Amino acid sequence: MLFALRRLLPKKKLPKTFHRHEIPRHVAIIMDGNGRWAAERGLPRTAGHYAGMGALRRTIRAASDLGIDVLTVFAFSTENWKRPQEEVDFLMRLPQEFLETDLPELMEKNVQVRMSGSREGLPVHTLQAVDTAIKKTKNNTGMILNFALNYGSRAEIVTAVRKITTLVAEGKLDPHDIDEKSFSQYLYTAGLPDPDLLIRCSGEIRLSNFLLWQLAYAELWFTDVYWPDFKGEHLLAAIEAFRKRDRRYGGIKL
Ligand code: IPE
Ligand code: IPE
Ligand code: MG
Repeated sequence: MLFALRRLLPKKKLPKTFHRHEIPRHVAIIMDGNGRWAAERGLPRTAGHYAGMGALRRTIRAASDLGIDVLTVFAFSTENWKRPQEEVDFLMRLPQEFLETDLPELMEKNVQVRMSGSREGLPVHTLQAVDTAIKKTKNNTGMILNFALNYGSRAEIVTAVRKITTLVAEGKLDPHDIDEKSFSQYLYTAGLPDPDLLIRCSGEIRLSNFLLWQLAYAELWFTDVYWPDFKGEHLLAAIEAFRKRDRRYGGIKL
């Protein structure tokens, strides 16, 4: 662990070594600010998205080195279809671009790729890239890298309700058997623990329809840093803040 921290913060003073329980199991990130990062440099928005891939690469390395179990990254929301076609087309090519270059490293790091989101509306080439990565990494036992792609929390919950009510109507499910735990299994994140820590960059203080159910008790951490500038040290700062939080889940400290 100390080794991993040293690599993340080569020149800076090392923080106190983290204990395993101080590391969030599941970190979710809203990767925001690509457009503004590009605009500040007089570049097209797509240049910001491209630079965002570097931040993703760094964050995956840092998260995997720190021993985080699940890293969920918000890559494209169901609301992002509203953007100009050119930008959407560019974003839809990024999974392919990223996975083509980074799949060997993900394999080396024993990372397992997953996707949370609706497959409907995604271009075939985007789905093919993600499906290939999921298939190739399915037996990996290290960190789970979960791409929230074409993801919207309200749509996810409505889809879950539709599946459940269909099963009830067919007599395959007893309404009494539906509880919080079983309901979770109908969401795109089935099988994953709820995020312990949510990070949003770019200065926006909102959830933008991200993991509304799953974030019920997550600790929230915001930074003004634009996603393309996000580095391992920012992830460490978020975890530093996380370990100082007192998670009471509605109870009290005795
Ligand atoms: C996040 O950056 C990437 C996606 C939403 C796909 P933005 O593109 O939202 O960047 P800003 O918020 O306009 O700066
Ligand atoms: C959220 O960012 C979606 C992703 C990061 C993929 P947006 O930039 O789309 O969110 P708003 O529009 O600021 O709420
Ligand atoms: Mg944005």
